[in-house]
Amino acid sequence: MQSLTKIDKVVNLCSRRGLVFPNSELYSPLGGFFDYAHYGLAIKKRIVQSWWNYFVKQREDIVGLDGSIISSPRVWQASGHLENFTDPLVECKKCKSRYRADQLVRDELKLEVEGLDEKTLAKLIGEHKLKCEKCKGELAEAKTFNLMLKTHVGVVEDDSNAAFLRPETAQTIFADFKTIASFARKKLPFGIAQIGKAFRNEISPRNFLFRAREFEQMEIEFFLHPGKTPPFEKIKLNLKAKALTAEEQGNGKSGSMVEKSVEGLLKDNVIANDWLAYWIAEAWFWLTEEIGLDKEKLRIRQHVATELSHYSKETWDVEYDYPEWGWKELVGIADRGNFDLQQHQTHSKKDLSVFDEETKQKILPKVIEPSFGLDRLFFTALIDAFEEEGEKTLLKLGKSIAPLDCAVFPLMGKDNLDVKAREVFEMLKRRGLECEYDESGSIGKRYARHDEIGTPVCITIDYDSLEKNDCTIRHRDSGKQERVAITQLPEKLGA
Ligand code: GAP
Repeated sequence: MQSLTKIDKVVNLCSRRGLVFPNSELYSPLGGFFDYAHYGLAIKKRIVQSWWNYFVKQREDIVGLDGSIISSPRVWQASGHLENFTDPLVECKKCKSRYRADQLVRDELKLEVEGLDEKTLAKLIGEHKLKCEKCKGELAEAKTFNLMLKTHVGVVEDDSNAAFLRPETAQTIFADFKTIASFARKKLPFGIAQIGKAFRNEISPRNFLFRAREFEQMEIEFFLHPGKTPPFEKIKLNLKAKALTAEEQGNGKSGSMVEKSVEGLLKDNVIANDWLAYWIAEAWFWLTEEIGLDKEKLRIRQHVATELSHYSKETWDVEYDYPEWGWKELVGIADRGNFDLQQHQTHSKKDLSVFDEETKQKILPKVIEPSFGLDRLFFTALIDAFEEEGEKTLLKLGKSIAPLDCAVFPLMGKDNLDVKAREVFEMLKRRGLECEYDESGSIGKRYARHDEIGTPVCITIDYDSLEKNDCTIRHRDSGKQERVAITQLPEKLGA
């Protein structure tokens, strides 16, 4: 029997502990839709909290938006999504199974497929006589497939009433830009942040949460002032990251990726826009310092010209080195220029520029967009944190995203140990900590249960606690235990 891969084990853990699992399991899941239950939701909420705190609350130049999922179809016509938001599709002539042509070519021929068009993919499929993975039937010519999920608004279900679920949260920000700019009383440069659902009718949703049909994005559209440079002093632009430039990929040097400083890439004009460099550095900083992802497993990669989205002048991805899958996109940071505002201005016939008091000029601002996929990051954080020690499974999640701050156990559920433990539990909750009371099973089993969901600290109340008003703290990652006065607990746990 084939042994389970690390990713299989993480997916199993998600099901076993009910973190997240396919939607409609009772029937036959549609594929690409997922439900998060208690601890999964807690981890997801903490990622959201950390993101909002870092990128909105702690700054003065970003305001929030919670836009509608369905917009006028004219938004999608203007943004170019109705025309350009496509993937190459091939269909089996016999069993009608559908595949993403680029994924098929990559998986079967082990080729880099970023940016290959339908013609090239069709040629490769024909030349190499690729067959249907399921029935070995012949494949039809590759064609374009639009990823927008369609619905109807109103009582008539025909194309006159067609509407689309948003494939990115960004467009509501662009469509609302002028309104928000007038309310927010912010001068350029400033950003608008939004966290919300996005939908894509992925041809073959795969890799669990990595490529779903319904997922959440955390996006910022940062509107630039042509004369204002980023606050370089505030962030470490000289931070070093493994980096792969478009030129190096063109030279076939993908394997020789070395550490470079973001500052150096900007000085050498590899990154063309100073604000793009700034936002790459900010995204990197948040992922590594706030979420705690392993730096060694991350790199930044510049898109080659043929893979750029229709709106982008330059894009860098922060990629993660996934077990079995290798490097894949985790976060995208794009220089969208003023493509979107320009398009909405043309299609709506409304002036979307803002008046700049300092220069007495109207500006249609250019935009840098850091775009984070929440579900993809959730899954990546779990993979990054997953460890096995003998029989034990641990999620070594950073404190900022662990589902609980601590768990409180009485050594046994009798002799007033339970009463004392509950007192401690209530006190910690009042101090704002996320904690859980747990008295079932042996202490060892309780530790194991909490190691598996990532609880960083377990607190045990024993007979000594009743006399000395203290307790044992056991740390998840080291397994070390220490004795702490109960009065010191909140401080010790960072409350
Ligand atoms: N507004 C820009 C935009 O949507 P994108 O690269 O298509 O750009 C941004 O998506 C991020 O959203 C990705 O880096 C990824 O984290 C997440 N994402 C995209 N498609 C996804 C999918 N099908 N399932 C899960 N996450 C996805």
